[in-house]
Parts: sequence; C-alpha cells; structure tokens
Amino acid sequence: MDNRKILVTSALPYANGPIHFGHIAGAYLPADIFVRYHRMRGADIIYVGGTDDHGIPITIGAEARGITPQEHVAENHALIKSIFDRMNISFDNFSQTSRQDPHYPMTCEFYKRLDELGHIEKRAEAQYYCEKCDLFLADRYISGVCPHCGKPGARGDECGACGRTLDAAELKEPVCKICGATPVMRDTFNWVLRLDHFQEWLTGWLESKPEWRAHVLREAESYVKDGDGLKPRPITRHLKWGIPLPVDDPDAQGKVIYVWFDAPIGYISSTIELFRNRGQEERWKEFWKPENPDFVRLVHFIGKDNIFFHAVMFPIMCHGQENGWKLVDTVPANAFLNLEGKQFSKSEGWYIDPLDFLDRHPADSARFYLCSVMPETRDTEFQWDDFGARHNELANVYGNIVHRVISFTGKNFGAIPKYEGEAADRADIELIEAAEASAAACATAIDSFQFRRALEAMMDIPRMAHKYIDTQAPWTALKENNTRAANIMHTCIRLVRGLAVTSFPFLPDTALKIWDMLGETEPLDKVPFHDAFATLPKTGFTLAQPQILFQRLTDKDMAAEKEKLQGFAQTKEKEAQKLEPLKPERGIKDFMKWDLRVGTILTAEAMPKSDKMVKLTVDIGVEQRTVMAGIGKSYKAADLPGRRVILVANLEPKTLMGVESRGMVLCATHGDKPLMLQPEGDPPNGARVS
Ligand code: 2FM
Ligand code: ZN
Repeated sequence: MDNRKILVTSALPYANGPIHFGHIAGAYLPADIFVRYHRMRGADIIYVGGTDDHGIPITIGAEARGITPQEHVAENHALIKSIFDRMNISFDNFSQTSRQDPHYPMTCEFYKRLDELGHIEKRAEAQYYCEKCDLFLADRYISGVCPHCGKPGARGDECGACGRTLDAAELKEPVCKICGATPVMRDTFNWVLRLDHFQEWLTGWLESKPEWRAHVLREAESYVKDGDGLKPRPITRHLKWGIPLPVDDPDAQGKVIYVWFDAPIGYISSTIELFRNRGQEERWKEFWKPENPDFVRLVHFIGKDNIFFHAVMFPIMCHGQENGWKLVDTVPANAFLNLEGKQFSKSEGWYIDPLDFLDRHPADSARFYLCSVMPETRDTEFQWDDFGARHNELANVYGNIVHRVISFTGKNFGAIPKYEGEAADRADIELIEAAEASAAACATAIDSFQFRRALEAMMDIPRMAHKYIDTQAPWTALKENNTRAANIMHTCIRLVRGLAVTSFPFLPDTALKIWDMLGETEPLDKVPFHDAFATLPKTGFTLAQPQILFQRLTDKDMAAEKEKLQGFAQTKEKEAQKLEPLKPERGIKDFMKWDLRVGTILTAEAMPKSDKMVKLTVDIGVEQRTVMAGIGKSYKAADLPGRRVILVANLEPKTLMGVESRGMVLCATHGDKPLMLQPEGDPPNGARVS
C-alpha cells in the first residue's frame, strides 16, 4: 500500500455569504469522500480548510450591511461551517484567514522570502480611484461605454456586448460600479510577483503531470503557452481590510496583500492551527516541509475557476522560495454544477438554501445525488425531478435491501445466525467475491478521483444482494431446510455489513445507522475499507425491527420544490426592482451640507452621441444654470421646458461630454429609468428644499 502521508485541502470559500450545492459538489464532497476512504485505509491523512476572509467583495458586503468586515466574516464563517457540519464534510480543522496568528506572519514570511530572492517588484501605475468609495477600483468594478462598439455597460476588463478585452483606461464615461460616481485616474504603486521568472520551471513541472485531469492540465498549460506566457501579477491592493504589506516604504502605507496571495497560505495556517490544537506544535512541517517531497501526497480540491491559483500561482509561490515547501501533486478541479438550467445565484433567488433543504431531506440523500451528478469533466445540472428519481433509487435499491435482510432475519431467527457447515455454498462464495470486486473497483475509482464511477460500483453491492436473495429464496428454504435459510441470511447480513463499510465515505449517517442495527461498536471510520466483506457479522446479536433508511419522494414533493424555487426567484426579482439595502445612518448635519433648490427647466437639448444625456438650462431663482442630466431614456427633450425640478445646487462643477454641468437633477429610479422629482403646489424658483 501507498504509505505516504496525505494532505487534502478544499478551496477556502469566501466568507461573504452561504455556500451552495454547486460549491459542495465541486470542492467539498469529493474531498470528503476521498478523505473518509483514506482514513479507513489507515492513512496518515489530514483534511484542512477554512474561510477566505479578505478581499474587496467582503468589504463591500460588510458595508452594505452596515457592519464591520470582522463581524461580517464571523457571521458567514459560522454559517458556512454549519452547512459543512450538516453535510458531514469532515474537516480536521476549519479556520479563517482573518485569524491573525499564524496566518498573518506566515503570509508575511512568504512575501519576504520571495522579495529577498528578487521575485517581487514595486511598480508605479495610474489606476482608477473612486473618491466616494475611497477605493482604487479593480477593473471589474468599473463600467462605461465600450470604445470599440459604443455600447454602454462594458466592464473595465471586457465588453459584454462585443466581447473585446479592454483596459479600464480606454472606457468612455467610466463609473464606479459600487456607488455610481465617476472615478478619477490616480498615480499609485503596486507590488507585482514576477511569475514570468518561472515560465520555464512551470512548463517543465506541468509536463511531469500527465495524469492530471485533461481540462485542468489544458488550462494550466495555457498560461505558459498562450501569448507571451506568464506575466507579472500585482499582489497588493490599496485597502484597509487584509494583511498589511510588510514593506518598509512610505508608499506601502494603506496597502494590503492581495487576497489571492494570502488565501492558499490559509491551507498552511489551518494545518498549523490543527496541530497546535493537538499540542503538536511542529508536526505541520511533516506535511508542508517534508524531508522528502515524495513522503507526502498533496491534493487540492477546487472548482474550475480556481485552476490558475492552484496549478500556477501557489506552486510558484512555494517553489520560488527554494526552501522545501511541498508542491501540489494533483488538482482534481471540477467544472460547475448548475441548477435547473441556470447558474446558482443567491442574489437572483436561483438557489437552494442547503440548511432549508436539510430540514426536509437527509444529508446522505444530498450527498448521493450530488456525487451522482458531480461535474468531473464538464458542467452538470441539479434538477429536482432527477434528484427525486435518484433518491428513490437509493431508497429502493440500497435502503430496501437493508430493510429486507434485517427484518426477514429478525423475524425468522431473532438474532444474526451462524454460518453452519464445513464448506460454504458456491452461490454464497460467489456473492461475497463479487461484492469484494465491487468494493475494490470503488476503491480504485476513489483513488483516481472518479467519484461518480466509485458511487456506481458501491451501488452494485445492494443490486447483487437483491438478485441473490431473489434466486436463493430463503422463504422457500425456510420451509424445507432451516440451516440453508440461516446460511443465506448470514451471508446477506455479512453483505449488508460490508455495504455499510463500503458506503461510509459516501453515506456516513446511513452507514452508521446500519452499523448500529448490526450491533457493531468499532468506530466505522477505523474499519479497514479493504476488509469490508472479510469480517463476519456479530452472530447472536439480537436484531430489532429496522428503521426505514430513506422515505420515498413523490412527484408532488418534487413539484412543490420546483414551485418553491420559482417563487423564491420571483420574489428576488421584485425585491431587486424595488429595494436596495439602506445605507448607514448619518446625522442631519451631513444632510444640511447639501443646497437643494426648486427650479424650472428653460431649455433642453438631447446630446447627439448619447441616448442618456440631456443638456438643460434651469432657472433656480438666483441664477440660471447649465445642467447635464442622464434622463434621456425617460423623457424627450422637447417635452422638458417648463417642467419643475429639484436641483442639487452646490455640487462641484463637472465636465460631461464637453459641457460644464453645474448641479444635479434629483430623480427616483424605476427599473433603469430615472423619473424627476417635482415640488407639490407652486413654490418659486430658488425655494429651498429640506
Ligand atoms: O473562489 C473562491 O471562493 C476562493 N475564495 C477560493 C480560495 S481557495 C484558496 F486558495 F484559499
Ligand atoms: Zn464608488
């Protein structure tokens, strides 16, 4: 047997909201099956994880809720952990990257070592900055008009309409996607990791991984093969939330380490935490800094969107330090699991709340279904009807054989009967051998990350048991030959016992229930997987009436689930149209800083190159103003003169489309259409609004 230590990680989910079944099928369930199986093989294995707590989206998430990032990640960490617990994802340690010790010093150690060896470089660059958000904007937080096709709504990195890759600086009319303000270009510094130093090394290293999943290898290789190959990558951000840049330089003020640099180091921190909690301070090194890299097998379970970071960047971060960090052996990345034809999306309500699901369905039923549709080579679908059908198959094939065998044996023999006679019957030997072959096929499949195939091999065991019992007909034997009937049922019980062992990695709750029913007391995770059918059951143990393992689901049940999903999505759609979350409270003083005045539009002129912008002249009593208003989608210019408006009169002047705009017309938004606010009655132009 392979006696290497095994180190298993699953992607650290962002602590920005709950996780869904897509994540579970992608990176957690396969890891858990793999880990449970290897524990049963007696391997020295650890499984570490945690939440990824840093990054800009987390700060935005916290701000939207009016709480601190610390509070936001603490809540989401607890929520995510509760989902893993209920799904029986058996991490040995589940940490958080915002727990400072040991994560911050370890990240700084990585940074400093790479810096010392000349792989990090300071670079001056101009970047869009939003003064309102006080944030340098990553490209995906900027939108504007595409310089190529002229369509609005293009993202800073690409235009959704024409598909061209963009540089944020090229966008016309750029706006901050977070607050809608116009960002400004500002000079700043960033520190980049010279991934390009490792072009040759990575090329050779990837060539030594022919056994990797084809899609993973293909993508990883594309980074060294496409274009000029690996490019330097910024690893700093200007942000308050994160690990402060450990650089003694005034330009490093206010900079933190980029979340994707610190996140994978979270695997190491979680391992250190695990052994610290066990009082074995130094043992983490056996896994991460082994004397010989071949003593450890490191596996990263992730989704396909994380391939770059696990197959390129993190290996470079480890190798680049030249001091014995363990490099990943395999990255069995999965594609995506969609939900009824669309991507899972909590914000759009296209979503199954795992905790709510688990109030109605057993965790093992979810694990069984998710494993059977695991997106190992391409995207797959969660479909409620399919879930119902697979659940019922589990009930009919697996649940039913356990019930059939235990209740028949209990009723006719009271306890588990002995196998009588010198030599076993041929049919009995064949059954046990066939079951052993299925368990072996299951083991081989798990070891090569083919979890769907492994599940099928496991399910062959109850299938052959049904066939055996139907042909052996113990009910007939019982009338003529009690010993033969007892031997048949002994063999069946032995098979059910072995089924519990073989299915434990997939269906841990159910396997434990069977274990109990058969009077077994040894911890199931310590029972050798490969001996599943070799050990005899506890003869003489009195069998109780078995419980039903899986209640069948009806078409009506599934229709109700689908309706719930649709209803949830519709509610979200309505909410999204109407309600944005409230901003944090502000004092009246803040409000009084704004000078709002009643005015009347005198002239209006549509701007030739924009369907949005209209140039207005507005009389506000004290003077007449030129104001650019983005109301072209709601009003025709010709209809506007004479309309009353409320104007923000002390806004700094701003040049829009070459026109100096002095003020802002207040509007309420309906869908994507702004509608102007108007005073009640007939207050004079210049009347103050408060
Ligand atoms: O994609 C994600 O959800 C990331 N938070 C995964 C991080 S994996 C690791 F590097 F921590
Ligand atoms: Zn902003």
